[in-house]
Amino acid sequence: MGMHGKNLVVTGALLGGFMGLLTWSPGVSGNEVVHNMTADRITVNGHSVPDIGPLPTAVPTPATNLPYAAKVTLGKQLYFDGRLSKNNAISCAFCHNPVAGFADPNQTSVGVGGKRGGRQAPTVYNTAFNPVQFWDGRAGSLEEQAIGPIQNPIEMAETHEHVVQKLSNIKGYRESFQAVFGTGVNMQGIGEAIAAYERTIISTNSPFDQFVLGDTKALDESAQRGMALFKGKARCILCHNGPNFTDNQFHNLGVPQVGPMAEDLGRFYVTRHEQDKGAFKTPTLRSITETAPYMHDGAFKTLEEVVDFFDQGGHSNPNLSPLMKPLGLSDQEKTDLLAFLKGLTGEKLPFEFPALPE
Ligand code: HEC
Ligand code: HEC
Repeated sequence: MGMHGKNLVVTGALLGGFMGLLTWSPGVSGNEVVHNMTADRITVNGHSVPDIGPLPTAVPTPATNLPYAAKVTLGKQLYFDGRLSKNNAISCAFCHNPVAGFADPNQTSVGVGGKRGGRQAPTVYNTAFNPVQFWDGRAGSLEEQAIGPIQNPIEMAETHEHVVQKLSNIKGYRESFQAVFGTGVNMQGIGEAIAAYERTIISTNSPFDQFVLGDTKALDESAQRGMALFKGKARCILCHNGPNFTDNQFHNLGVPQVGPMAEDLGRFYVTRHEQDKGAFKTPTLRSITETAPYMHDGAFKTLEEVVDFFDQGGHSNPNLSPLMKPLGLSDQEKTDLLAFLKGLTGEKLPFEFPALPE
């Protein structure tokens, strides 16, 4: 039996090892299809990797932070509330904007006081499926990640103490924290509520998902050829694999260093391993059309530029991943690959800005 229902909760015991345990069931009429996320593997150039496939309907959720409706509502208010920042103007949504694919159209983000960070803000779509957060993987959980930006001097530039004090002065927040957590406003609750909301920001049911679930018209012929390239000649699946199109690993592609940072050593800052210098986390490709610009430093403005970059085998770098090779794609093949990437855009989420408590 597969697990059913969109709101199914996967307990914390599965986190970390959840990829092996989750089963997926589409909930459509007809035959029951149980898609075991680890069952399908594909071999490309001698490398065996998990196949791409439909996103599981069950969102990984820790048992310690179950998503009650009131908690998600509170998390959504906090996510959109500039009062979490020093100048009361920079909310999470300022850099992870729902109208820009929950990402930032700026090459690198601008925080409180116009301070510019060195990295491109990744999308919040499907971060629930990330075992680690940030381009260098330095945060483990969404709960842990969410309270970081508040006191980051170039993001929200606030202190935890002061933000708790400010929100405690707002009657609506005092009441919600009491109702949801049975406590006053505190940082743990802020992190948990925001994380619970983030787990509802899911990109799924794209033309690609519909196609692999049997709707043969969901992708046109060009996009279908693009999928074959993605899994073959273009080698994308070597790193963008599994249902969320990422191996959750770190690779050095030789992405050009642009933006305010003179040198970004990426994963090296976390591991201090020489071979991790300049390696960054493989990002999801779901809804990739919505989240330009691309790469950890926003080096590329368009998907065309990204495809050209991979076609060249990346740029030379002492730590260049051995998985990167020049591809020799024709113009038609590039067009097909782009058509496939466009087919990864998820269905629109019904979205309304929340009313903020006074
Ligand atoms: C000033 C812009 C800015 C603000 C405000 C901001 N972020 Fe971010 N966010 C970023 C940038 C830039 C990164 C990437 C940083 C890195 O990798 O080192 C990031 C990374 C993340 C990630 C990791 C995603 C992944 O795939 O690794 C999550 C989740 C996230 N932010 C959520 C939030 C939440 C929740 C808030 C509000 C509490 C917030 N952000 C506020 C710019 C911002
Ligand atoms: C060796 C592993 C690897 C291979 C092969 C690979 N990618 Fe990536 N991809 C990554 C990593 C890692 C990043 C982020 C790199 C960075 O920012 O420095 C990335 C970034 C991207 C981005 C930008 C995403 C964003 O949110 O900014 C796109 C689009 C993309 N890849 C598409 C592709 C396509 C299409 C192919 C096949 C032609 C491909 N990738 C092959 C690992 C890989």
